[in-house]
Amino acid sequence: MLFLLSSNNLDKKYVWHPYTQMKLWNNLDNIVIESGSRFSLVDSKKRRYVDGISNMWCNVWGHDRIEIIDAMKKQLDILPHSSLFGLVNKPSIKLAKRLTSMAKGMRKVFYTDNGSTAIEAALKIATQYWVNKGRLQKKKLICLRNGYHGDTIGCMSVGYVDGYFSPYKSLLLKTIKVDCPTIRHERFGRQDFEQHIDKIENILKRSSPKISGFIMESGAQVAGGVNIYPNNFQREISELCKKYDILLILDEIATGFGRLGNMIEYKSQRSEPDIVCFAKALTGGYFPLAVTLTTTDIFNEFLGDYWAKRQLFHGHTFTGHPVGCTAALTNLELYEKLNLIKQIRDNSFLLKRLVKKFSELDICYDIRQKGMLCGIELRKGNNPIKMIDKVPIGQYIARESLKKGIYLRTLGHIITIIPPLAIDQEDLTRIVDTEYEIVAKIQHKK
Ligand SMILES: Cc1ncc(COP(=O)(O)O)c(C=O)c1O
Repeated sequence: MLFLLSSNNLDKKYVWHPYTQMKLWNNLDNIVIESGSRFSLVDSKKRRYVDGISNMWCNVWGHDRIEIIDAMKKQLDILPHSSLFGLVNKPSIKLAKRLTSMAKGMRKVFYTDNGSTAIEAALKIATQYWVNKGRLQKKKLICLRNGYHGDTIGCMSVGYVDGYFSPYKSLLLKTIKVDCPTIRHERFGRQDFEQHIDKIENILKRSSPKISGFIMESGAQVAGGVNIYPNNFQREISELCKKYDILLILDEIATGFGRLGNMIEYKSQRSEPDIVCFAKALTGGYFPLAVTLTTTDIFNEFLGDYWAKRQLFHGHTFTGHPVGCTAALTNLELYEKLNLIKQIRDNSFLLKRLVKKFSELDICYDIRQKGMLCGIELRKGNNPIKMIDKVPIGQYIARESLKKGIYLRTLGHIITIIPPLAIDQEDLTRIVDTEYEIVAKIQHKK
């Protein structure tokens, strides 16, 4: 017991947590997670928390999938790490071959170790592609408002969230930002996105000689509020990019690998990217590994004599990590062997049915769901609910959820249900029922 208490206190003494007001954190009785068991995390007091957000949207199989763990252990025994600087390793070749066979149009794989660095690599590739072609004017990036692509400086520039990033504004690149539509609950009636496309086309018509790339999340924006694109929106952007000679960079870090019900989301959106990024679920959520994929056309622009300096000047210590690549390969084998995409689609129907009841609650303004991504937006009299019992609503919901055995975070007043992709129906039902109880309690208090 003494040791358990001390873990929490030692954390307070030494660890700085992400996106956390540490003054408040240090006054809380925080939970120390010690193990994983199926779709739950288990704390030092043996309490279980069903994972409602798949460990920041990356977990596929739950927290103890033996096939991936064993494969990683075996790889650690053979070769813990060897980088791609001047050397080759087999798992990185096998994975690159596998990914390019799945991702239509993509022919080369560049390895990094998290989503943000995969995006940074993508932005550098898009920028240098035009430099190498001698089109030096093409250097501006265009992106969607409410998009999110990570926390590094390039990523914040193309995925600017004012609520988070305003202190860093002076560091950011100037980008062109355009509005993004979202599907809404049927009670909002028909939603037209053509006006968005018209506005975007007007910008591209005027400015395309100065624009290098258009970056967007594929299928839906997650961190920006669970905004799910209407049918054809992404396809039309893709066509505009081709028409105006702009590279399309698609971020499938949160939405690929089945999150929206499709292995490769851009294929189902009938869009044709030039550059695509995957991370999070790539290794089943068991190892920090990310990839930036490109077409042959992009890759070929980087070829030339050594001193022509056409090569990509980017690389991380853990590039092509053999343990991560092995985890990803085993993860992909399991997707196929267990037909995970079918299971996700079945789960998606269940999730849709389960969240329907939220619309009975007055404070539930909108429900947006696709695949295993769901956002439930809470408003009172059209205003986002910000506080409850003098606590920010997100913190209130997170804490109430933990008390009831669910690990869940919100995006402010939007509850996000983003569970492990292979979650069983019992745990999924428990997550939704628990959140319903919490929202009903909030409504009662309001
Ligand atoms: C769409 C998207 N892109 C990029 C990232 C950044 O990934 P990472 O946190 O691994 O840097 C995230 C993280 O949530 C994301 O949702």
